[in-house]
Amino acid sequence: MKITLISLLFLSISFNLINSYSSFTGAEGVMMLDNNGVAIQAHGGQIQKLKNVYYWIGEDKTNDYKPCLGIHMYTSLDLYNWYDEGLVLKTMKTESELKDEYFSKLYGDLSAEEQYAIYEDLWQGTDGSEGCVIERPKMLHCPKTGQYVIWFHADGTTPSSSGQSNYAKAKAGVAVSDSPLGPYKLLGTYLLVNDDKYDHTWDNIGGHVRDMNLFKDDDGTAYVIYSSDGNTNTYIVKLNDEYTGISKSGDKPVEGVDYIVTFVKNSREAPAMFKANNKYYMISSGCTGWSPNPASYAIADSVLGNWQTIGNPCVDDGASTTYETQSTCVYKVNEGEYIYMGDRWFSGYLRDSRYVWLPIEFDAEGYISIKKHSNWDLSIFSKIKPFKILTNLPTEVNSVSDLKNSLPSSIIIQYIGESTTQTVTVEWSFDIDDNSIADISITGSLSIERSIIHNVQIFDKRTIYFFDSGAGLYGNGDYYTNLKAKLGSKLLNNEGDQAYIKGTQAGYSSSLGGTDDNVDISYKGTGNDIWSHGFWAHGGKNIVYSFELKAGTYYVNEGFFEWWNTQRYMKITVSAGGKEITNKTFTLGKSDTRNQQSVKFSLTSTQIVTVSVSKTSGSDPVLSWISILQEN
Ligand code: GAL
Repeated sequence: MKITLISLLFLSISFNLINSYSSFTGAEGVMMLDNNGVAIQAHGGQIQKLKNVYYWIGEDKTNDYKPCLGIHMYTSLDLYNWYDEGLVLKTMKTESELKDEYFSKLYGDLSAEEQYAIYEDLWQGTDGSEGCVIERPKMLHCPKTGQYVIWFHADGTTPSSSGQSNYAKAKAGVAVSDSPLGPYKLLGTYLLVNDDKYDHTWDNIGGHVRDMNLFKDDDGTAYVIYSSDGNTNTYIVKLNDEYTGISKSGDKPVEGVDYIVTFVKNSREAPAMFKANNKYYMISSGCTGWSPNPASYAIADSVLGNWQTIGNPCVDDGASTTYETQSTCVYKVNEGEYIYMGDRWFSGYLRDSRYVWLPIEFDAEGYISIKKHSNWDLSIFSKIKPFKILTNLPTEVNSVSDLKNSLPSSIIIQYIGESTTQTVTVEWSFDIDDNSIADISITGSLSIERSIIHNVQIFDKRTIYFFDSGAGLYGNGDYYTNLKAKLGSKLLNNEGDQAYIKGTQAGYSSSLGGTDDNVDISYKGTGNDIWSHGFWAHGGKNIVYSFELKAGTYYVNEGFFEWWNTQRYMKITVSAGGKEITNKTFTLGKSDTRNQQSVKFSLTSTQIVTVSVSKTSGSDPVLSWISILQEN
């Protein structure tokens, strides 16, 4: 073992003298310098702690894409300040370098043929356009052999395949060392699981390995996770006890026992697996090369189990590009304290690509979120600890004012994993209209500088009509059914949705049909909830509902969901007897899924009132539901 007192001494001396970081720049992604003041070269990397020392390995991109110099390692005692340990796996320019001291110590005992295979895998090329590509290196300590084992995505060209595509080889490289600091000896590069059930047309053969990662479970079982089959599928494969190859229960690996294939045809890359609270998590990216895309995460009860995709863990502005990063690793600092590590690739000058590290926040149900923190330090984890709310909060109320009266001004919480409870005060903020109905979310700011989001359903007793647009096609839905059960004949419509025709006093009066333009409106969306399905209007047409109403004061509420990622400028117009009574303009945001608008109007005599949703400019209007409340 090379790391012992001497390196540790260097570590502390150099950190004291040269660098003194005490925070991470997070989403800002400021260049991270090592103890020599040089930009850290450990891209697509991994961090772990072994015997009180943090190890970070990654791709050395000093030469941008090529020639590839190998795998670089850094060590740290505090995660903020990193000491350069140099290249722990080196590549070579010429075959004759195999005779040099460094390489002959590692490969001198191999046959000429075996040595040539190593030369091919570690060939740097000569002109910067050829040679090996080493990506996403990860290291594990093997308890059985005591060795340190690196796996990486081995690609690029060899002296004999020069000129070929850089990602045609698509193998896994495996290297071992007796010291975490290397030098690592390459054992070879390998195709992994070849499962004929999956489509190999893109790759010609199965077993290809591209973006990859390793994961070691608490019982010491290790896994390699990689994109394969033209990057369409993700393989999770158990390693053998030595961590130098894959486990084979039969003549070959057995699906379900040695490996699984998951996210089939989902084209996921950059997998980063971790375990928290006995659940397994995997964050991954889409496949858009060096350009960022939205991350997605999945949860499973076991590594080779059923992975359930949850969605993008990023919640702040910039979530659609994962704050301009691509996942590479999740590091567990302590129980409940996890850091997302992403690469912000600069494709034209890869050497300057940044490391963006962000804390992962868990909620009481174990769902995660990644927020856009800048300049944060490890003390943040005490501020984002997940907790349960032990106080029962109202989930169903009669009106917004009832909700305001029934919400407590303090609640009891309990941090996950702790037995004591705490009473904290809450300040609720209602960013909603007083006449809102159906599902609403409210935010509570807690005295412990945390906030909670609480979802409530409002069944307003003043409702005389509720139409779940499109219910005719999709079934009446839970909200209408529950409302009808509560209000009985006070709710005047007996169907979830209906056309306004002679004989019915209310319903949609636009013509509804297929997608051809001779109708006004068409169905859109799926799903049983009132928001996710509804109507869209054809070019220049409006979505109109009509109601026969007696003299009185009313609120018309309408709900909107954006299906096409489009910002819509819309207007609600209430008219009677051909005359406009009132209108309201509003904007439906691109990612709005629960936009609710309320308009008040009064009638002095019984009239047929039309409520029309139109556009004021741009795209045509949409509508998910409409209701009429009558003021008592
Ligand atoms: C990304 C991948 C990187 C690298 C890059 C090349 O999708 O995650 O590791 O292979 O493509 O374009």
